[in-house]
Amino acid sequence: MAAGRHLPGLLMLLLVYLVMSAVFSTAYRSSEERYSVCNTRCCKVEPNCSAALHVACRCHFAKRVVLRDGDFPPSVETIYFYGVRNLTITANALLNLPSLTRVELRQIDWMKVLSNGLALNSNSSLAFLAIDSVRRMELKADAFSGHWDTEAKLRIGYVSSLALSQNTFSFQSSPHIPSLVIEHATLRDIEPMAFNASLEFLTLKRVEIKMCRRNGFGGSIQALSMDRVDLNELREGCINGSGSLRRLSVSNSRLGVIRHRGICGSIPTVTIRNCSVSRLQPNGLQLRTAKLDICSSTFTSIMTRGLNVLANKVYLRKMVVDTLQGHALKALQATEKEDDSPSIRIFNLTVMHTYNGSLAFDPETNVRVVHLSVDVWKPPVCPLERWVRQLTDASEKAPLGPTQKQMQAQLHRHWLCKEPSSTTPAAAGGKNGEAGARSTLRKRYMLRPD
Ligand SMILES: *[C@@H]1O[C@H](CO)[C@@H](O)[C@H](O)[C@H]1NC(C)=O
Ligand SMILES: *[C@@H]1O[C@H](CO)[C@@H](O)[C@H](O)[C@H]1NC(C)=O
Ligand SMILES: *[C@@H]1O[C@H](CO)[C@@H](O)[C@H](O)[C@H]1NC(C)=O
Ligand SMILES: *[C@@H]1O[C@H](CO)[C@@H](O)[C@H](O)[C@H]1NC(C)=O
Ligand SMILES: *[C@@H]1O[C@H](CO)[C@@H](O)[C@H](O)[C@H]1NC(C)=O
Ligand SMILES: *[C@@H]1O[C@H](CO)[C@@H](O)[C@H](O)[C@H]1NC(C)=O
Ligand SMILES: *[C@@H]1O[C@H](CO)[C@@H](O)[C@H](O)[C@H]1NC(C)=O
Ligand SMILES: *[C@@H]1O[C@H](CO)[C@@H](O)[C@H](O)[C@H]1NC(C)=O
Repeated sequence: MAAGRHLPGLLMLLLVYLVMSAVFSTAYRSSEERYSVCNTRCCKVEPNCSAALHVACRCHFAKRVVLRDGDFPPSVETIYFYGVRNLTITANALLNLPSLTRVELRQIDWMKVLSNGLALNSNSSLAFLAIDSVRRMELKADAFSGHWDTEAKLRIGYVSSLALSQNTFSFQSSPHIPSLVIEHATLRDIEPMAFNASLEFLTLKRVEIKMCRRNGFGGSIQALSMDRVDLNELREGCINGSGSLRRLSVSNSRLGVIRHRGICGSIPTVTIRNCSVSRLQPNGLQLRTAKLDICSSTFTSIMTRGLNVLANKVYLRKMVVDTLQGHALKALQATEKEDDSPSIRIFNLTVMHTYNGSLAFDPETNVRVVHLSVDVWKPPVCPLERWVRQLTDASEKAPLGPTQKQMQAQLHRHWLCKEPSSTTPAAAGGKNGEAGARSTLRKRYMLRPD
């Protein structure tokens, strides 16, 4: 009875409770369902899902994560992912996040960015994107696309295996051009036009690349800088300055074979410093430049017309060449100048193996040579003047020009081309002296023996 009398009141309470909990749970669920990152157990969304500013996910390599358009609340400002086993970024994952300023994706075992995965809108505020410590990373065509409008900094580092596709970086950007740094990474090849984006700086640091084909660095890069890079083969058109490239700087690096027109076109400033180059093939550097500066670098061989360069100024400083083929330097030419100060300045050039014409220069070009050191031929060519004529490919009759006279003075060795009256057997003296000179040369520059 009493229970019967109280029933309507209890029912009412139950009903109110049910309605209230339904309302709360739909509100709760709707924001969770809408933004899947709020549902992801390893992610922390602060202050809360509907007003999210910071998303930080520490997934302890336990998860496969797929990022899609609409996964993040539009208010989000920073996104961090750490320790993801398998991360896939699909089209437009970050496109509609106008407040996003910073993204860091770190410690990822396997990562793939699909086409337009990292596309941005012109109203994006993204200023910094870092991807690092990735075991295998694959970046598809147009992975980085859309409009990167801020002075965005893009950094990719510590990648054991990085695969780029043609057009991987294809974003437009104006007026500010972002910079891209790739460091500590191993790439198999550089696909043609992988960097087909307006980049002010492309910097490669401690990167290993097997091979670079035509337009490997094509697109609209303004300054390309490589430091501690190991680039095994530069095929024709790998670095082509015919587009926007204004500066090329390679330092502390190893370049393997530079094939015909491996570095070509018009690049106002080219600097190669503390590098080792295995083989510079004919027209390996076919360049027009304001300034070419090669400093403290070694070349195993420079073939005929290896340096085919038209420049306002050329500096070859502290260069060590094992084999300098005939006419290797003859295609170095200076553009017209008003004064006649030397356009080509060669300081401290050391060559282990010279041939006829190895030191021949373009007759129109004013060359200054200081501290030249070359191997002595077996048997030595005497008198010295004759040797200089052969090295510079000059006719027997014409008087020596100023550059040849500089060379003659620098190639003079007291024991070489002695008068036959000299009592010490000339042959023995020459032989020992020569061997001695060679070994000191080798010791001084620490080159391997034959
Ligand atoms: C989410 O956080 C914002 C800012 O702290 C706050 O104004 C809002 O009420 C919160 N929303 C919920 C559902 O907790
Ligand atoms: C990661 O996920 C993709 C599917 O998106 C799959 O194809 C791939 O094999 C996975 N990789 C690893 C290492 O689990
Ligand atoms: C950002 O730009 C896109 C188109 O580029 C537009 O659809 C979107 O509404 C803009 N968002 C904001 C917040 O202005
Ligand atoms: C490079 O980008 C331009 C547009 O910026 C496009 O027209 C061209 O097809 C791209 N090149 C390649 C090889 O994808
Ligand atoms: C360099 O680029 C120019 C202009 O795009 C092109 O005409 C030329 O063939 C390219 N050179 C090489 C060697 O690829
Ligand atoms: C020259 O480059 C080598 C690597 O190729 C590096 O170990 C060395 O420290 C560099 N020297 C200088 C003076 O930077
Ligand atoms: C060039 O070589 C000469 C003689 O070996 C040496 O005295 C001088 O310091 C060297 N200059 C440079 C810039 O290395
Ligand atoms: C080098 O030049 C000299 C003089 O012109 C010539 O006699 C000699 O045969 C040439 N040597 C070679 C290997 O061509």
